[in-house]
Amino acid sequence: MNNGHREQWASRIGFILAAAGSAVGLGNIWRFSYVAGEQGGAAFVFIYLIAILLIGYPLMVTEIAIGRKTQKNPIGAFKSLAPDTPWWIVGALGVLTAFVILSFYSVVAGWSLAYTFKAFGGFVPGLDYEGIFISHITDVYMPIFWHAAFMILTLVIIASGVVKGIQRWSKVLMPLLFAILLALVVRGLTLEGAGAGVAFYLTPDFTEISGETFLTALGQAFFTLSLGMGALITYGSYLSQKENVSDSAGWVVGMDTLVALLAGFAIFPAVFAIGFDPAGGVGLAFITLPAVFAEMPLGGLFGFLFFLLLTIAALTSAISLLEVVVAWLIDEKGWDRLKASMLMGLIIFVVGLPPTLGYSVLSGVTIFGMDILDTYDFLSGNILLPLGGLLTSIFAGYIWRAKSVIDEANNPKGKIVFGQWYGYVIQYLLPLAIGAVLIWGIISTFIE
Ligand code: PHE
Repeated sequence: MNNGHREQWASRIGFILAAAGSAVGLGNIWRFSYVAGEQGGAAFVFIYLIAILLIGYPLMVTEIAIGRKTQKNPIGAFKSLAPDTPWWIVGALGVLTAFVILSFYSVVAGWSLAYTFKAFGGFVPGLDYEGIFISHITDVYMPIFWHAAFMILTLVIIASGVVKGIQRWSKVLMPLLFAILLALVVRGLTLEGAGAGVAFYLTPDFTEISGETFLTALGQAFFTLSLGMGALITYGSYLSQKENVSDSAGWVVGMDTLVALLAGFAIFPAVFAIGFDPAGGVGLAFITLPAVFAEMPLGGLFGFLFFLLLTIAALTSAISLLEVVVAWLIDEKGWDRLKASMLMGLIIFVVGLPPTLGYSVLSGVTIFGMDILDTYDFLSGNILLPLGGLLTSIFAGYIWRAKSVIDEANNPKGKIVFGQWYGYVIQYLLPLAIGAVLIWGIISTFIE
């Protein structure tokens, strides 16, 4: 067993930045823009924001509270709050989800890493950025190489531990990403023809909405906030009793949402200005943003910095995914950190090979009309995370009890006070809303 002292974040701000590091990642820029584009823009964004506020925030506080109370990984946490019951399976579902997400996340992060190098001198006006993206992902070896490189970076950080590894990285780099994003917004909005993109992004057309729109918006809220699979249980387990939970979570949700909204302003005006299709799928950010950089002075330098920072944002998310698996092996199986990080990193690399090859060798393979990467993404983001969130809210509302979450969330008291209202939210609103959207969304996606 692990008999060492459990590590803790060095300060409240350390925790907030690490949790924000987990939340802010490819989900805010790459995934947010491509799903919003596919789901018709503004109306989707509107539903997404409601999901963040009504479901995402309370659930984030719940997960952090579970982690802090038990000081355990997700499986251990459910075991310790409900011993001798099958509730630990919810934790196990989280560990499984971490595998699935990280295996395709690393593929896309690998694209970002590759683009960091491509940026140098490569982003000039008039190039066919769609063609460049397609030739990158349809190559057999390069995506594998970058996927491996990204996994190695992730496991090296995790192997070096919570504070030295995770916290140090999250602190300095996020503000820089934010600044570059702002510059991109300004450039995007001032391109000729940007207005149509702003309209797409801000003028909702509710006639196009279906169960699939709701499911995708809910799934995106879970994905972007790192909810529904125990990442925040794990991070909460390293939070000291001296720090408040409810306000910290508020900061994380606020920062994450701001980055996503800004990314939309950086991408959609430009999509329309270059005459690209907003429903273009997974390549949206990778095709549009280089075209914007090409129109900027020092575009190569900005492009380089942007993709470098996007890769780092992805890295601070990827480590939170790997940490879930590694914390479980350390706490429950008594493994040492280095061995757990290396072996799991290797396994996730292998599980990531099918989506890596999904545009080359395996390009013929489709599942319900989706390619392999889309399938991993849809399954984990839109099904497994909401399912994990549904079960977590039932657990918190009826087994561990709302009162226990309220006590933990208010200890010590913060500006956002958890009162009785939380009981209604966790017992009724969350299970009913998530359950309904899951069922309706699955029917509307696969049957209609
Ligand atoms: N929130 C991360 C992002 O938006 C992805 C993630 C999902 C990380 C689930 C951890 C757990 O990129």
